[in-house]
Amino acid sequence: MKRVLVIGAAGQIGSELSAALWNHCGSAAVLATDIRDPATWGGRTEAQRLDCLDRGALARAVRDFRADTIFHLAAILSASAEANPLLAWRVNMDGLLNVLRVAAAHRCRVFAPSSIAAFGPEAPRDPTPQTTVQRPSTMYGVTKVAGELLCDYYHARYGVDARGLRFPGLISYRTPPGGGTTDYAIEIFHAALATGRYNCFLRADTRLDMMYMPDATRAVIELMEAAPEPLRHRNAFNVTAMQFTPAELAREIRRHIAEFRIDYNPDPVRQAIADSWPDRLDDSEARAQWGWRHRYDLPRMATAMMRGLARTMTHDRGRLQAMTESAGR
Ligand code: NAD
Ligand code: SER
Repeated sequence: MKRVLVIGAAGQIGSELSAALWNHCGSAAVLATDIRDPATWGGRTEAQRLDCLDRGALARAVRDFRADTIFHLAAILSASAEANPLLAWRVNMDGLLNVLRVAAAHRCRVFAPSSIAAFGPEAPRDPTPQTTVQRPSTMYGVTKVAGELLCDYYHARYGVDARGLRFPGLISYRTPPGGGTTDYAIEIFHAALATGRYNCFLRADTRLDMMYMPDATRAVIELMEAAPEPLRHRNAFNVTAMQFTPAELAREIRRHIAEFRIDYNPDPVRQAIADSWPDRLDDSEARAQWGWRHRYDLPRMATAMMRGLARTMTHDRGRLQAMTESAGR
């Protein structure tokens, strides 16, 4: 992993993973790309516009940058995918296929994330085993299962060193989330700090699996640095850090803001998605095969979010205002 191309670098994970890779691989070794104009998101790394559906442009970017590893983060997330299932199929499947074809041709390694969404209502919920029935009821989940299998196929058939994690909901404050169902767990912090109240789109008792972003970016780098031999579930490792309901998260936030108030106004689409997902992944295989360990539990994550957001708020009141307004809708 000497020269890396990040696709979807303007997103929630891509923005923080690009920065982590910049620290890990060196400043000249990271090319951050996204379908969005870099003028609106570019950070410290070299950045350019790239649509993963354009295989020619993708191949040229890999060749010109001499990339040896592709981090593929471009996708349409769960709630957005239910709003536009055909777009989700195209971006999530055709985009991944383009990445794997270019990786096979240019001998690149690939990181492509899966999700808790790869499981459906028939899977055991607590814990959800590493290997179990996967019959998701969402278009996003369908593309995640198919993506895991496609990566396995490209590894077995073409020798592409593809690796992936089944991420739970990821919590962070630097870049807004991109249309997922677990987004409530980020919006709630913005709303708590800005207005002291939050209107939650999930029921109070909806338990979901979650992870704080620094654990997630570290997991990606550790998996990509791991020796290949022990990796028996290379494209679909369950990983987890914490599990909570909106009511439990609200209780944790009240330890920081005593007067914080939460109301519940479940959105039927996102509630149905959440109800079909695991409460808690069993990540014992990731722990055994490449030494995965989380560092952030609920209290530690909440403290870090409060501190990080409070700093951001003083720098960027306009962005915070916009996010909390959309969170309240
Ligand atoms: P995001 O929506 O925040 O970012 C995705 C980025 O992809 C956006 O910046 C978007 O502009 C870009 N993009 C969309 N279409 C593109 C295209 N055709 N070409 C190039 N770029 C395009 O998503 P995220 O939260 O950063 O998720 C990244 C990956 O991680 C996805 O595969 C997602 O399924 C997975 N994941 C995320 C979470 C989470 O909680 N954030 C959890 C599990 C899995
Ligand atoms: N956080 C993601 C979503 O809610 C899970 O993959 O869509």
